[in-house]
Amino acid sequence: MFIPAQGKLCSKSSDIHIRDAVAADSLLLWKWANDPVTRANSFRTKAISWNEHQRWYAKRLASLDCRLWIMELKNVPVGQIRYDRITIDVAQVGFSVAHRVRGKGFGTLLLETTAPMASSELKVRWVRGITLSGNLASQRAFAKAKFTLFEQRRIGEHECFVFQRGV
Ligand SMILES: CC(C)(COP(=O)(O)OP(=O)(O)OC[C@H]1O[C@@H](n2cnc3c(N)ncnc32)[C@H](O)[C@@H]1OP(=O)(O)O)[C@@H](O)C(=O)NCCC(=O)NCCS
Repeated sequence: MFIPAQGKLCSKSSDIHIRDAVAADSLLLWKWANDPVTRANSFRTKAISWNEHQRWYAKRLASLDCRLWIMELKNVPVGQIRYDRITIDVAQVGFSVAHRVRGKGFGTLLLETTAPMASSELKVRWVRGITLSGNLASQRAFAKAKFTLFEQRRIGEHECFVFQRGV
């Protein structure tokens, strides 16, 4: 079976795996977090130090309210996605795809594949993502993964879109 994401991604589904993020992924996730496009699309654009990242990552891995997954193509990591339960019913999602493979459908596939997993593991009914108004790739990925625009909101100095999907 092949997964054609708008004709861009054409990989055997058996080549694509989702796995739990583990302690050994810390360096990779730190590098991805400091990717310039990722920082530019975040509320905090400043680079994240290694020490700060290590403290943050250890807490996320230990949290019962958090799930972090890595998507791999032929055993090579291509993206990460994190769900944090923010209320009894809602988990908030953040995701990114490795720079070299953006625009090939992996972001959409990450959202589609993991939203039901997050629902079942965190016992939430809704998953929600917030994008800056200028982050068109993220907005398109949410829309294609069957999230709908829940609200438009100003957060600090940023105009944002809140996307939500029932799961
Ligand atoms: C957002 C992100 C995860 C999307 O992943 P991706 O694998 O590149 O997305 P997809 O390939 O699934 O593409 C989704 C849609 O966005 C479009 N898109 C991709 N890059 C784009 C860009 N730079 N500008 C506008 N649209 C873009 C794609 O064309 C596709 O829409 P289409 O099928 O209608 O053409 C990825 O771009 C990324 O890692 N960005 C930096 C981190 C980030 O912004 N994370 C989200 C925070 S909310």
